Amino acid sequence: MQYSSKVMEHLMNPRNVGELENANAVGMVGNAKCGDIMQMFMVIDDNEVIQEVTFKTFGCGAAIATSSMATELVKGQTIKEALALTNTAVMEALDGLPPVKVHCSVLAEEAIRAALADYYTRKGIDPTPIVGEIKPFGEDDDDHHHDIPEEE
Ligand code: FES
Repeated sequence: MQYSSKVMEHLMNPRNVGELENANAVGMVGNAKCGDIMQMFMVIDDNEVIQEVTFKTFGCGAAIATSSMATELVKGQTIKEALALTNTAVMEALDGLPPVKVHCSVLAEEAIRAALADYYTRKGIDPTPIVGEIKPFGEDDDDHHHDIPEEE
């Protein structure tokens, strides 16, 4: 498997790692298939601008690189701008990912959305119309992986 030099650079030197004690938005997502977990911490101001953002990832190299890049991209953005960030954009910013590692970038996108959902929930606002449906933590979010039949 070949990582781009940008992925390698973020993997060796990830940006914005850690927790934010004064975070007012915290999201945690996981991929049940690979077992990787990602957490995002944000400080969002009254103008809905993401002033600070950090992450913790217990996951593979691509998960670390994509969360590092994702935090760099959403820092200083408004919530609206951050919600428009797709995993494809994160991958492009990293000069691509091997196909088997695409789901890792999905995890980064979902971690951002989960943190933003938490921001609204803390304010007593239903986040679903704004942020969309957030999968419960631990649910398999790999769309190509359906060998466990779902019960109706
Ligand atoms: Fe699961 Fe990368 S292998 S997040």
